[in-house]
Amino acid sequence: MTEKKARDLFASRLGILAATLGSAVGLGNIWKFPALTGQNGGASFLLVYLLSTLVAGLPLMIAEMTIGRSTRTNAFRAFTKLTERRCWWLVGGMGIVAAVIILAFYSDVAGWVFAYIPKALSGAIATQDPKTAQTIFTALLDDPLQSLGWQWLVLGITAAIIMRGASAGIEKATRILIPLLFLLLVVVCIRSLTLPNAVEGLRFLFMPDFGRIDSSVILMALGLSFFKMSIGFGCMITYGSYFQSDTNIPVLAIRVMLCDLLVSILAGIAVFPAVFSFGFEPTEGTSLLFLTIPAVFASMPGGVLFTVLFFVLSAVASIGAMLSLMEVPVSWAVDTFRLQRQKATLLVLVGVICLGIPAALGTNVLGKISLFGLSLFDMYDFLSSNLLLPIGGLLLSLFVGYVWDRKSFEIALSNGGTLHNGMVIRLLIRCCQTVTPVLILLILLHGLHIL
Ligand code: ALA
Repeated sequence: MTEKKARDLFASRLGILAATLGSAVGLGNIWKFPALTGQNGGASFLLVYLLSTLVAGLPLMIAEMTIGRSTRTNAFRAFTKLTERRCWWLVGGMGIVAAVIILAFYSDVAGWVFAYIPKALSGAIATQDPKTAQTIFTALLDDPLQSLGWQWLVLGITAAIIMRGASAGIEKATRILIPLLFLLLVVVCIRSLTLPNAVEGLRFLFMPDFGRIDSSVILMALGLSFFKMSIGFGCMITYGSYFQSDTNIPVLAIRVMLCDLLVSILAGIAVFPAVFSFGFEPTEGTSLLFLTIPAVFASMPGGVLFTVLFFVLSAVASIGAMLSLMEVPVSWAVDTFRLQRQKATLLVLVGVICLGIPAALGTNVLGKISLFGLSLFDMYDFLSSNLLLPIGGLLLSLFVGYVWDRKSFEIALSNGGTLHNGMVIRLLIRCCQTVTPVLILLILLHGLHIL
């Protein structure tokens, strides 16, 4: 049996890059990155985020992809194949749980993006007035039926694509999207940069104020870098299991990291000049994207068309990332219970819909409920991004640094000795043994005020 037939592998090199980028690039770049950057001091947050991506995100992305490809199985079973010590299976299990929790609130935000498409078509969101923009956004969040309806639609579309399998569904859907989204972001950036007072926005994004960096900002940036690169929730292990044997994993991971950073920075350049030009608050958080982008387009010819296009592409980007998120539990259910792909997807869909209900209703009928001072929606985000992902990343680096047999790791990462990347492998192992776990541990303990 050929490798392609034994497991439904991604078909081509470009397909692998597109699918992996499709997982990394999503609402994390367009929605979460500007929101967190705005709330946490702008450039200083960006700087910590860049460092986290380099020191923790990149090595762990390479590690996850290598684990996936060398075991050719789901995130849980991958660890059972590599070690008999059961405690490490927990890392895979935790990743699957994190993917489901992220899906539950991510689908809510993706629903808002979808809801903005008809609104953009009708011209209803074409305003530069901060108060009007906020009223439109709040009306959507306040409506439980709309919140649930859009969330379920998004989850339904994702499940339908997942049912078609890894190479057919995921690869095709993400191949066209990334270049298009990139181009449109460039258009928004150009318009945003030509707005009056744009320079204030650039200063906010690129001139660090080191006084703004504290332990919770660092934890937030670390969580964002994991969220962004789809690390710690089994995505890259699962996608790695669909890679071909000759994929050069370190090169692929560096390409994905660079493209992903570029899209985030473009999103920042699109949003922050507009924030300062129209008088929005950079600290708006969740709503920032939905207020500023329509305002930028409202100020240029053909604005309605561009706004529609932007939300359509963002919607597709969110589906690309959700495909990788949903693939994690689906692949686990298929391998573990020997279910057909369709049945496993339906099962996961029902589970995520149930878990997603409190997130969607947390902005309206359940709005009064708060846990540790966080709304239900924020709780899902905090639990996954700031707890499960860093803990998963910490354990993963220890696994690669100390548990996984070194020889096997070297063979896996050098494609059986055909790549001459010994130095990269040694550097990666050193990183996973020392810098990465120590930093993650310190950041976690400080960020949670345990130290
Ligand atoms: N990595 C995905 C995103 O940033 C989850 O949207």
